[in-house]
Amino acid sequence: MKDRPRVITIDGPAGSGKTTVARMLARRLGYGLLESGSLYRAFTWVLLREAPELLDKPEEKRIETFLRARLPELRFTLEPEGLKIFFRGKPLSGELRHPETESRVSEVAALPGVRALANGILRELVRERPAVAEGRDMGSVVFPDAPLKFFLTASPEVRARRRYLEWRARGLSVSEEEVLRRIRARDEKDASRKEAPLIIPEGAVVIDTSNLRPEEVLESILQRLARDRP
Ligand code: DC
Repeated sequence: MKDRPRVITIDGPAGSGKTTVARMLARRLGYGLLESGSLYRAFTWVLLREAPELLDKPEEKRIETFLRARLPELRFTLEPEGLKIFFRGKPLSGELRHPETESRVSEVAALPGVRALANGILRELVRERPAVAEGRDMGSVVFPDAPLKFFLTASPEVRARRRYLEWRARGLSVSEEEVLRRIRARDEKDASRKEAPLIIPEGAVVIDTSNLRPEEVLESILQRLARDRP
C-alpha cells in the first residue's frame, strides 16, 4: 500500500456507529483515535466545575477567554484507544459522560469561539500522529483536505435502538420511544445549528449502517482505503 492518509474522517449522527467503527479502524491502522466530542465534553466539564455561572447566561467571549486561560492546565494525548484528556494532571473519563456534562455539551459546542479553540487543538494533535478523526464536522470544517472521508448514517429507529441498548447496559431506565424522541430532537438541532451543522462533507463516502454489523462497515472502509491507495 502506498502512503496512507494522515487523517481519515468519520462523521455522522448519534447512533450511526461512527465511534465503534472509528475505534476499530484506528486500532487496525495503528492511528490515533481523535474523538472530537470528548474535547467539547471536557470543556463543558471544566466550565461546570470552575465557572458554572458563565453557562447561566452564555456570554461567548467570557467562556472562550475562560477556556483559553485553562489550556495550560489541560493536556491531550492521542492514542489508538482514544483522546486522553488530563486536567491538572488527573485523567478525565467518567466525568465526560456525566449526565450534567451530557446535557450541557451541545450549548458549549454551539459557540463559534469555542469551536475555533477546539479546532486548533484537533489540528495540532494530528500533527503529532496520523489519526482517525470522528465527530460532526471533521470532514467539512476541521480537515476539509482529508483524502478519505466517510459519513455514517442509519435510520432514526435503528440509532434509537442502539442507544437504548447502550443506556440499558449502563443501568439507565428509559423507554425506547423516549430515546427515539431525543434522537429526533437532537438530529434537528445538530442539522439546523448555525455553526458547523451536521452535513455530509464534500467528497465523503456515505455508508448506511442500518443493516450492517460494525465489522462489515470496517471492511467496506478498508476496501475503500485499498482501492484509493493500491
Ligand atoms: O460525539 P459526542 O456525543 O461525544 O459529542 C458530544 C457533543 O459535542 C454533541 O453535542 C455534539 C458535539 N460535537 C460537535 O459539535 N462537533 C464535533 N466535531 C463533535 C461533537
